[in-house]
Amino acid sequence: MENLVKGEGLWKTYDLGGVEINALRGLDITVNKGEFVSIMGPSGSGKSTLMNMLGCLDNPTKGDLYIDGKKISLMSDKELTKVRSEEVGFIFQTFNLLPALTVRDNVEFPLRNLSGEKKLNKSSRRERAEECLKVVGLEHRMDHLPAKLSGGERQRVAIARALVNHPQFILADEPTGNLDSEATENIMNLLHLVNQQGTTVIMVTHDEETTKNTRVMKIRDGVLVEDQAETLKETVIPVPYPA
Ligand SMILES: Nc1ncnc2c1ncn2[C@@H]1O[C@H](COP(=O)(O)OP(=O)(O)OP(=O)(O)O)[C@@H](O)[C@H]1O
Ligand SMILES: [Mg+2]
Repeated sequence: MENLVKGEGLWKTYDLGGVEINALRGLDITVNKGEFVSIMGPSGSGKSTLMNMLGCLDNPTKGDLYIDGKKISLMSDKELTKVRSEEVGFIFQTFNLLPALTVRDNVEFPLRNLSGEKKLNKSSRRERAEECLKVVGLEHRMDHLPAKLSGGERQRVAIARALVNHPQFILADEPTGNLDSEATENIMNLLHLVNQQGTTVIMVTHDEETTKNTRVMKIRDGVLVEDQAETLKETVIPVPYPA
């Protein structure tokens, strides 16, 4: 299997006026292309710090991070911007939609950052946004403002926005944290659909229910303490030969 994300000995140290906080303490992580990974762990254990790092929004204080085989620390600012805007789609607990823009314009927004041969004209941008809104079942809400939508619908808009650049992977930080159980199920079905179509998904969650059919990793005090892929390898019981 091909690595999409590989982090080796990742540290993140925040300096709070002389007091050092180690949000990550030498964390190792590998995610393969096409996987659906769930990251769980107590509050403050470093989950969001890790997600920001994987999305190239933040640099490790120490350690190496590779995205699609490329070492992040060797990339120029221009290359990093390209990764952030073309390879990754972000989904947040609080949706983070722009309140003054319609649903369609929110989804279209990331396409403005495309450059070079990926650049799209206005009508192609609109078409692409509408395609993604159809995927999440919101084609009838395209002209509405986010405030008119339910929480579940807002998160579906955010998923459409995350998909609009056809990213290699989606980083979702507690995407169902503010949703009721029905909307949660709906969002999880959508994320699995997106994953089945080839997009790698890395999700942080506090809800065991949402980790079904995913590779679960557990983080504590800034390191991975459990990885289902490893556990599965260790617990394979050899079939004894018949006597
Ligand atoms: N910008 C920052 N400056 C200083 N400390 C920070 C900063 N961001 C995070 N931290 C600290 O790093 C640690 C890890 O934070 P992080 O947000 O990654 O945790 P989390 O696992 O996402 O928690 P939660 O489940 O509450 O979202 C915490 O102790 C936090 O206070
Ligand atoms: Mg967090």
